[in-house]
Amino acid sequence: MSEIRTRNRWDEVFARRTKANAAEGLTSILALANSTDLISFAGGFPDPSTFPGIELAGHFNRLVGGGDVSALQYAPVAGLPGPRSFVADRLERDGSRPDDDELIITSGAIEALELLGKSLIDSGDLVLVEGPTYLGAIMAFQSFEAIVRAVPLDDDGLDVERLEAAIALHGPPKLLYTIPDHQNPAGLSLARERRERLIEVARRHGFLIVEDVAYRELGFTEDRLPSLWSLGPDVVVQAGTFSKTFIPGVRLGWGAGPRELIGGMIWAKQNTDQCATALGQRLLEEYGRAGGLDEQARRSRELYGRRAARLMDALKAHMPDGVSWTTPRGGFFSWLELPSGVDGSIVARGAVEKGVAIVPGAPFWPGPGGERNVRLSFSRVEDELIDEGIRRLASVIRNSTERVEL
Ligand SMILES: Cc1ncc(COP(=O)(O)O)c(C=O)c1O
Repeated sequence: MSEIRTRNRWDEVFARRTKANAAEGLTSILALANSTDLISFAGGFPDPSTFPGIELAGHFNRLVGGGDVSALQYAPVAGLPGPRSFVADRLERDGSRPDDDELIITSGAIEALELLGKSLIDSGDLVLVEGPTYLGAIMAFQSFEAIVRAVPLDDDGLDVERLEAAIALHGPPKLLYTIPDHQNPAGLSLARERRERLIEVARRHGFLIVEDVAYRELGFTEDRLPSLWSLGPDVVVQAGTFSKTFIPGVRLGWGAGPRELIGGMIWAKQNTDQCATALGQRLLEEYGRAGGLDEQARRSRELYGRRAARLMDALKAHMPDGVSWTTPRGGFFSWLELPSGVDGSIVARGAVEKGVAIVPGAPFWPGPGGERNVRLSFSRVEDELIDEGIRRLASVIRNSTERVEL
């Protein structure tokens, strides 16, 4: 009789790429963000008051009750024709329309990054990101065993001069990942002249730019800088999402870029989920064509702009000397720098004890960095709780600063 061997250390069987991953980071952020008994500045969640419940129910009933089987059937890998043309129309309004083979509908922006990773990255390939950057992107690229290195940001976004210095040192990357508008986690945007220079650098060195436009439509004012994809369609893939402007519950996003690369993403999608939700795609199309999406974005910009202003007022009123922060002009985030010697993860732990959730800065860097930072997301904190949350956070920082000085 063969011996039955019971494993009690399943972590031993994980692949190298899984062991190397920072998966803990995102899971714990999402757990904190969902907690209802904390004032949570933790997750980058849209506020539920922006969700179009009743309106969506009407579209749902018409779609499902009206016998439109396309909403209930498998969809083509690159997306249903109607929703694809709806997304292409929106992109055209934003400066450039993709041809039919230059667009893919994905299950959220995170899947667009996964598909790029799966189709482009070999083990050991260099991927450059902004430091700090979106943790989900670091995880996606690392899961394909890329070497992920950061190029720092300053107030004008990605520092293109330092990018060139990094290329001189390490050689050109296979791809550079950037969030040019209202960045996660820093809340900063890439200046216009840097956008043009970045395209020129990518062309000169022959690498791909992956532009993540998750917060592009959520500027607090009307002025928008040109997207990188509209400036350099030959060297840019744009990854977008409807999670922040519509609802994350449908998991819908897109990729737009050179046809060979979109073809690679379509190939990669065949054996991930095969197609993005057909029901979600049709709901988005119906709701969007009826003007719902534009109206929702207008309301969202107003709401998040107001919360950002409240956050800025609260920070000015309560933060001790030595703390600085970014002033967002859109999106969900402000990035705090703590006084020297104060550690963001210790502040985050202290804050939970005072009933406030924030995210420490270190996970937003692929290597060392961000230890003295924390990220604040103002998108889902009720207006009247912002001041109280920041007052409590400031007292935690003040205590940590005093401890350092002892
Ligand atoms: C910069 C950035 N990209 C992508 C995403 C994820 O988008 P999705 O929900 O479409 O996967 C987020 C969400 O937090 C984000 O901040």
